[in-house]
Amino acid sequence: MITTTSDAPLLLRLAAPLAWRSDRAIAQKLMGFAATEQGSALDMLRAAEREADPRLRRLFFKHGRDEARHAMRFREAARRVDPRAVARASEAARAERQDLHERLGLMRFVAFVWLSERRAAKQFEVLAAHFARPAAAGSRAELARLFADIVKDERFHVSYSRAILDAWCADGREREVRRALRAVRVHGAWSAWRRAGRPFGTVLSGLVLGVVFVAAMPLFALVARLTRRPAAGWEPVRTELASLDDLRRQF
Ligand SMILES: [Fe+2]
Ligand SMILES: [Fe+2]
Repeated sequence: MITTTSDAPLLLRLAAPLAWRSDRAIAQKLMGFAATEQGSALDMLRAAEREADPRLRRLFFKHGRDEARHAMRFREAARRVDPRAVARASEAARAERQDLHERLGLMRFVAFVWLSERRAAKQFEVLAAHFARPAAAGSRAELARLFADIVKDERFHVSYSRAILDAWCADGREREVRRALRAVRVHGAWSAWRRAGRPFGTVLSGLVLGVVFVAAMPLFALVARLTRRPAAGWEPVRTELASLDDLRRQF
């Protein structure tokens, strides 16, 4: 039996008002969710196609159909908020199939499904509560209902994948299951670090170039001043026109 620590989604609750602050941000986030759900649907349907165990095939197939429905509902909700909504490029890329069943093998694939679905269920619970807040800025009954509906499916995905892992543990494969969970967590942390690296790198390179500019410019100015040659060509002549004689001799 796998035991888990319950990490309270405090950060998600705190970030929700900022991340979902305007119609444009809401529509963009919903389109991002639609892309993720679509990628997930494609992977689950591919897993159903490849899996030999008929019980797992059925579960993966149902899971794939749920995710396809979620993708459609998120996309429709986004377009109701802003008809021109598009996902960010980084999120739109998640709509692709990743062939995880093939790449990870069955046990790590199910471990991945369990961990991802658990994270999604927590996130959607927080968002259902965020949009249901009575008379608060940002309250939207339609989105609260959407997230509450989708959370029901996500809980089913969490529970069936968990049941498969528990059954393997009961079958004497607990160490293998733990290793699979650890591998998926490590890989997830590495991927998150790489995703975060791009914006972090943009900010850091801006800072470094700013510091180099401020530190190096005085040196260039000094060298330019020391090596400056007198200007060639005509120079203005200063004449003092103090008397009548000065006015007679202006050249
Ligand atoms: Fe989903
Ligand atoms: Fe799901």
